[in-house]
Amino acid sequence: METRIINLRELDQEAASAVYAEAAAVIRSGGMVAFPTETVYGLGANALDEEASARIYAAKGRPSDNPLIAHIADKKQLYEIAEYVPDTAELLMKTFWPGPLTMIFRKKEIVPYGTTGGLDTVAVRMPDHPVALSLIRAAGVPIAAPSANLSGRPSPTTADHTAEDMDGRIEMILDGGPCEIGIESTIVDMTEDIPVILRPGYITQEMLCRLLGEVKVDQALDPSRWKNFRPKAPGQKYKHYAPKAPMTLIEGNTTDVVKKILELAEERIKEKKKVGIICTDETQDYYSHGVIRSIGSRIRMESVAHNLYDILRTFDDIGVDMIYSEAFDFDELGYAIMNRMLKAAGHKVIRAGKTEEVTD
Ligand code: TXA
Ligand code: MG
Repeated sequence: METRIINLRELDQEAASAVYAEAAAVIRSGGMVAFPTETVYGLGANALDEEASARIYAAKGRPSDNPLIAHIADKKQLYEIAEYVPDTAELLMKTFWPGPLTMIFRKKEIVPYGTTGGLDTVAVRMPDHPVALSLIRAAGVPIAAPSANLSGRPSPTTADHTAEDMDGRIEMILDGGPCEIGIESTIVDMTEDIPVILRPGYITQEMLCRLLGEVKVDQALDPSRWKNFRPKAPGQKYKHYAPKAPMTLIEGNTTDVVKKILELAEERIKEKKKVGIICTDETQDYYSHGVIRSIGSRIRMESVAHNLYDILRTFDDIGVDMIYSEAFDFDELGYAIMNRMLKAAGHKVIRAGKTEEVTD
């Protein structure tokens, strides 16, 4: 199939409207359109059409028990697909929609099991991006959209990333520039009495608690317990976000971490290996050997989220043999970032310092 890639930033309003009309027609006839959101690029199809959802799974190579998020542009669409919307969800919507928050509700019959991976619940999100919202409005249906990567690869945060994975597999890619946030939405299960975070994201537990008082975190997300619990979001159990080269995280205080990475890199380079190093603006100057990339600044964790997937893809393109990365603290946005980095590293962590240990 030929994939049309359309750069919306080069078009005037009239030409853009024509593109949205065309993309909406693709969606309504069961086809697929990739589009930008504020988090990552999504691979969209009609959420109410089981066959369209099946095409998404095929295009991504994704296991079909892994449910899709329905993207809406208007609150009215939520009541059309969710059986029951608790007051707590109304409160969250007022503050965080449109935005990087996905909520899970009991589904209405109109939502096919092919979209929800066989579950009686549906995940819903109103993205905060003009291209996403225009497309959903033009299509007139909720749009099911997973991240637009091939299953197992890092999520795409640019149209180029999306094309790398999806060219030839889908009808259209709408290029709306790089995604601002760079990691996927926070997912909260609203079907429990006390809402539960199933995937951490830009909206943190602290932000949710400020509004609701109490919000739990799925215990399978606890990094020390990841082996013992089955995550409630099916997607969380798969190896994910992974670069091609094996990656190891190094945690500890910054001086010890830099020293340890220098030591490891030196050993590998002696073995003629090509070593990728993920550092930060604050530590970049301490490194001299290997392929060194700063992921952003430790005092602006948003920059780290923004660059994370792009860096992993860059190392794929360069073709390094292994990646050593500085780790981050688990507080606030760091929690979501470490959730993705631990997966990318297959949970391989070295603690630098006096009591060095390797965990995996
Ligand atoms: O930011 C985002 O959420 C992006 C953009 C495109 O909106 N989308 C995204 O979709 O990350 P995806 O399919 O890559 O991840 C959706 C996650 C998966 O882990 C899936 O298992 C979980 O949401 N999920 C979806 N519906 C669910 C449900 N009914 N119950 C539990 N987990 C659900
Ligand atoms: Mg994904």
